Amino acid sequence: MTVHFIGAGPGAPDLLTIRGQKIISQCPVCLYAGSLIPDEILAYCPSNATIINTALLDLDGIIEECRNATNAGHDVARLHSGDLSIWSAMGEQIRLLKQAKIDVSITPGVPSFAAAAASLGTELTLPGLVQSVVLTRTPGRASAMPDNECLENFAKTGATLAIHLSIHNLNYVTNTLIPFYGADCPVAIIYRASWPDQHIITGLLSTIQNEMSEEIERTAIILVGACLDDDGFENSRLYASDYDRRFRPNSNQANPKQETPKQEKPARKGTKT
Ligand SMILES: C[S@@+](CC[C@H](N)C(=O)[O-])C[C@H]1O[C@@H](n2cnc3c(N)ncnc32)[C@H](O)[C@@H]1O
Repeated sequence: MTVHFIGAGPGAPDLLTIRGQKIISQCPVCLYAGSLIPDEILAYCPSNATIINTALLDLDGIIEECRNATNAGHDVARLHSGDLSIWSAMGEQIRLLKQAKIDVSITPGVPSFAAAAASLGTELTLPGLVQSVVLTRTPGRASAMPDNECLENFAKTGATLAIHLSIHNLNYVTNTLIPFYGADCPVAIIYRASWPDQHIITGLLSTIQNEMSEEIERTAIILVGACLDDDGFENSRLYASDYDRRFRPNSNQANPKQETPKQEKPARKGTKT
């Protein structure tokens, strides 16, 4: 028997992966992480499934539910919001499940920062402008930040910042970042990206605090960086007409000495290499 960890995506039910949906529909027990998992995803559970909201449990309680289910011969679907690789608390659960000799599997999900970027219609890495994205947070009640991972250190890089779990610290975030990014650096706050009540607020580091709505207290991402300002970037070399790409025949005409690559598999239209 297996506990299947599934990233349930940012909120919109149709952003759940097909694999995730299939596993959920086959598990007699489902543990889900509170209000960030929409009812439409829980509706994929078998009609007689036991469905448990783990917001009401502590870690031992969650492991106990997994142990009871697997001892009874049931697979478990364990749902977390977004993807499992960031701030899911999957690590501590897997550690205890492994100690209990319970098998686990992991199915990734669409992370909320990607949904937020999609809602904004923005690429977070733009040629000649920014080529890195930092996924980070500020300290919270439950989690201190390691010393080296302070916002100032990431700000020194000038990378696009996707700041999670920090909307209550907006003042601290803007004050910390202005010396590095400038007061006129664009910022976007995306509340409940992909949910029906999604809300987007855009502004500058110096003004965003005034634009904020008091209702936005949680489940929001703060995106900061020059990429949010549409125009100041170059085209990528990837699709430049004179760029020599393995599977683009035209580029060989520009460079006749180049051998035609073996076409083991046809290049798929639109695939980035
Ligand atoms: C416990 S973390 C979970 C992160 C999740 N594992 C992921 O992949 O995005 C919760 C934080 O993620 C962000 N978040 C999660 N879902 C979101 C959404 N739909 N829209 C905006 N931010 C979201 C918020 O910053 C929230 O405070």
